[in-house]
Amino acid sequence: MTNTERAADPTGLGEIDRNGARVTVDDKAMINCRADVNQLLPLKYHWAWEKYLAGCNNHWMPTEVSMQADIALWKSPDGLTEDERRAIKRNLGFFATSESLVANNVVLAVYRHLTNPECRQYLLRQAFEEAVHTHTFQYICESLGLDEGELFNMYREVPSITDKAAWALNYTQHLEDPSFTTGTPERDQAFLRDLVAFYVVFEGMWFYTGFAQILSLGRRNKMVGIAEQYQYILRDESIHLNFGIDAINQIKIENPHLWSEEFQQEIRVMLGEACELEVAYGRDTMPRGLLGLNAELCEQYMRFITNRRCAQLGLAPVFGPTENPFPWMSEMMDLKKEKNFFETRVIEYQNGGALDWD
Ligand SMILES: [Fe+2]
Ligand SMILES: [Fe+2]
Repeated sequence: MTNTERAADPTGLGEIDRNGARVTVDDKAMINCRADVNQLLPLKYHWAWEKYLAGCNNHWMPTEVSMQADIALWKSPDGLTEDERRAIKRNLGFFATSESLVANNVVLAVYRHLTNPECRQYLLRQAFEEAVHTHTFQYICESLGLDEGELFNMYREVPSITDKAAWALNYTQHLEDPSFTTGTPERDQAFLRDLVAFYVVFEGMWFYTGFAQILSLGRRNKMVGIAEQYQYILRDESIHLNFGIDAINQIKIENPHLWSEEFQQEIRVMLGEACELEVAYGRDTMPRGLLGLNAELCEQYMRFITNRRCAQLGLAPVFGPTENPFPWMSEMMDLKKEKNFFETRVIEYQNGGALDWD
């Protein structure tokens, strides 16, 4: 029996086919694959394997970062303004549970429907990284003595955060239904929407304004430990985002009928809505603005990022030409260039190498 005649077993948990043909590269597919999903080799999607290796090379733990300066500043009565404290707490509250929402989507939805072993290898690495990120917020909460109930309930209790989480969950809920399977154009598009909502919007748009807020404080020597942890998270998330973009684009190549004009328009509307939600969150988080940062600049940054994501997906931009108000963010993504930026400096990281501190 050839692989194309074989009944699809997208989970890899079905009966072992003792007489099946060996998998070839041509048998492999991103979604609705009919070949054995347990055979990593031969590799088809080298980009997925490369991202797995890059993720492993970037290994870090939040507890490696000293929180002493942050604790001193946080506890000092006039170390931070009330507006800065509000922005920091809301930012932490947004990320603390968002990391779980993203992890749930990876493990409970994406893994089931992405029927390729090299992509799944990357998803397993990503899932661990999301656990490290959630650990980061536990570590920050404990270090600063924050109210854990307040932090971990903001996604339920602060409407501008709830609105974002609810928007994204709307695209994943039916995928977690055990009876949901891909295999029709409608359901394959539902899966694509979920990939857009989590990889492009959650990790690729909303996280970026969150990074900009904290890294902007770090540039002014405030909360330098958290800023350093956010640099590591940003490094991880830029790979998560790029994996998502590559996965969506590969599904498009293999299933061009899914990427209709109508569907492209729908995705652009999604990205526009996501941008609006972020703008509302920015106003709520920084009602009066902070030194070097305010809701208007974050709105401009979000429009710039939205257009950039459109370009990465091959879509027409949602907004007119917009300049990046935070050009320093791109430097932040390349830690190799960031020597002696904050107090405790990562002087170098390299493929396969451990972090090196001075
Ligand atoms: Fe994460
Ligand atoms: Fe992520």
